[in-house]
Amino acid sequence: MYKIGMGILVSSLVVILGTTLQVSGQAAEDAMCVPMGQILIEPPEGVEAKKSPVPFPHARHFLTGCRECHHKWTGEEKIQNCSTSECHDLIEPPQKPKKYLSYSDAAIKYYKYAYHQLCIGCHKEIKMANKAIEMSYKVVKNTLPAAGPSSCKECHVGEE
Ligand code: HEC
Ligand code: HEC
Ligand code: HEC
Repeated sequence: MYKIGMGILVSSLVVILGTTLQVSGQAAEDAMCVPMGQILIEPPEGVEAKKSPVPFPHARHFLTGCRECHHKWTGEEKIQNCSTSECHDLIEPPQKPKKYLSYSDAAIKYYKYAYHQLCIGCHKEIKMANKAIEMSYKVVKNTLPAAGPSSCKECHVGEE
């Protein structure tokens, strides 16, 4: 009994080891490193910052799905930096928006507009939905979902 048991154990170890090696051999090329905790979002090179950089809890945002933000990602390739060419790579606005958080296709290439529309847009949407619920029913406030910050200094921490 013992011997047979060991035999199975040893051979399954070999199988497990074999597949691990195979998988990791492939993964070396395909691996995508996903930052978990805080990402410090800083302005791109060439920008003279007026505000402090923004600590962003990346993984806390995963439940909504990656493509909520990485909207060009197909699930096949590695995720690119947001300010690579053709995306949000402008470091100055091509035109001013007519309405707050409502940018043209040209204007959204300006990295700051992209971040503000994405980040503040979603946080405000949740806040407004919460407000609507509060006004329509009697709810206990702490049963509403957390919304995320929408005031300047909550994101640009370290400002006065
Ligand atoms: C709420 C928005 C948001 C969500 C949701 C999100 N990310 Fe991100 N992610 C970011 C931002 C912002 C950065 C920093 C990008 C930069 O520096 O240009 C980033 C960076 C990354 C990077 C590093 C890219 C690089 O520059 O090398 C990877 C990889 C990544 N995210 C993977 C994921 C995966 C996988 C998911 C889903 C499980 C996900 N992200 C969900 C906003 C988000
Ligand atoms: C699709 C919706 C969505 C988007 C897009 C989004 N957030 Fe959030 N964010 C949330 C929600 C929901 C919470 C509250 C979650 C929680 O407290 O766990 C949150 C919480 C936060 C918090 C507060 C965490 C804390 O410690 O209380 C910060 C800071 C933040 N978001 C920054 C950002 C930044 C910067 C971006 C843009 C790169 C961004 N968020 C984009 C939904 C979003
Ligand atoms: C939900 C988070 C969030 C909120 C709220 C927010 N910002 Fe930002 N902001 C960002 C991110 C992310 C960037 C891109 C990173 C950077 O450039 O620091 C940015 C960039 C900027 C920039 C360009 C970079 C610089 O430092 O000059 C300015 C200016 C700015 N924000 C001003 C503001 C002002 C003013 C408010 C309030 C009306 C505000 N932000 C509210 C997240 C936020």
